[in-house]
Amino acid sequence: MLQKIETIKQQVLSELSEIKSLSDAENFRIKFLARKGIVAELFDEMKNVSSEQRPLVGKALNELRQLAQTSFDNKKLELEGGSKSVEQKIDLSLPGRKKWIGTKHPLTQTLEEIKRIFLGMGFSIATGPEIEDDYHNFEALNFPTDHPARDMQDTFFIDEKILLRTHTSPVQIRIMENQQPPVRVIMPGRVYRNEAISARSYCLFHQVEGLYVDEGVTFSELKGTLVAFAKQFYGSDIKFKFRPSYFPFTEPSAEMDITCILCKGKGCRVCKHSGWLEILGCGMVNPNVYKFVGYDSEKYTGYAFGMGIERIAMLRYGIDDIRILYENDVRFLRQF
Ligand code: PHE
Repeated sequence: MLQKIETIKQQVLSELSEIKSLSDAENFRIKFLARKGIVAELFDEMKNVSSEQRPLVGKALNELRQLAQTSFDNKKLELEGGSKSVEQKIDLSLPGRKKWIGTKHPLTQTLEEIKRIFLGMGFSIATGPEIEDDYHNFEALNFPTDHPARDMQDTFFIDEKILLRTHTSPVQIRIMENQQPPVRVIMPGRVYRNEAISARSYCLFHQVEGLYVDEGVTFSELKGTLVAFAKQFYGSDIKFKFRPSYFPFTEPSAEMDITCILCKGKGCRVCKHSGWLEILGCGMVNPNVYKFVGYDSEKYTGYAFGMGIERIAMLRYGIDDIRILYENDVRFLRQF
């Protein structure tokens, strides 16, 4: 009898695993648990069991009924959806959903690349205030009192002496006021100009300033550093030239041009058919500036440079309207 109960138990377990639908479950119930089912029949056979064996057989039989009943109950609940397992709830045949990951703004990407290159050449990074005074933005940079850049047209004045910086060069002054040579820093940041807004100019933009002052710094080091930068940033096959220029705070001053990266020097709308693009202003720090910051101009020489990040990013990505950089239109931003 115990043998028989064990066989039925195995049968219950194997048929249980075959149940795939509610009607399978119902057949299982009828077969094992109904009033004329297998388990009930076994109970009927109890009368033939000897009185010594009865407690043992009774216990085994009760266990069997319990097993069949709870297994059936659980299976039915599961099939009705009450306690579906996680795997059954997830429909693996559904198409995947694309994750929208934000991207860095093209200006941020450009700035990060510029920083990476100059950090690799031993420069550190510093910043300064966007609200400046006339002294740092102009006077200490050797702008004569009547210089046209002080004109109301270019500068947003807050009052007579306070303004929104028009370039990152005042950060040079702040660095030199606080630190003796050697200094080797780049200074990225926002600058503001009171200009008519158009495809080519905006009332705010970004610059990266560079400054290196030490004993014996020469113009050829300035050239070498900027050429190394341009080759890393634009590719080693670019051609370049330095043109004489003028800035009050550098002497001599120059502007650096590279072959137009859009037409490769053949001449196009962007380079105004010259084949060349101006990428930055630079020069040897004017000894007059050292007087303002208390550096010994007999002992130290240095160079400075400044470049506009928008212009560089626009050339790099072929963007023809500066305003789109500030509109935060996701259709534009998603392309980077
Ligand atoms: N500050 C200058 C500008 O805004 C650029 C510059 C920086 C030139 C440093 C020379 C040296 O045009």
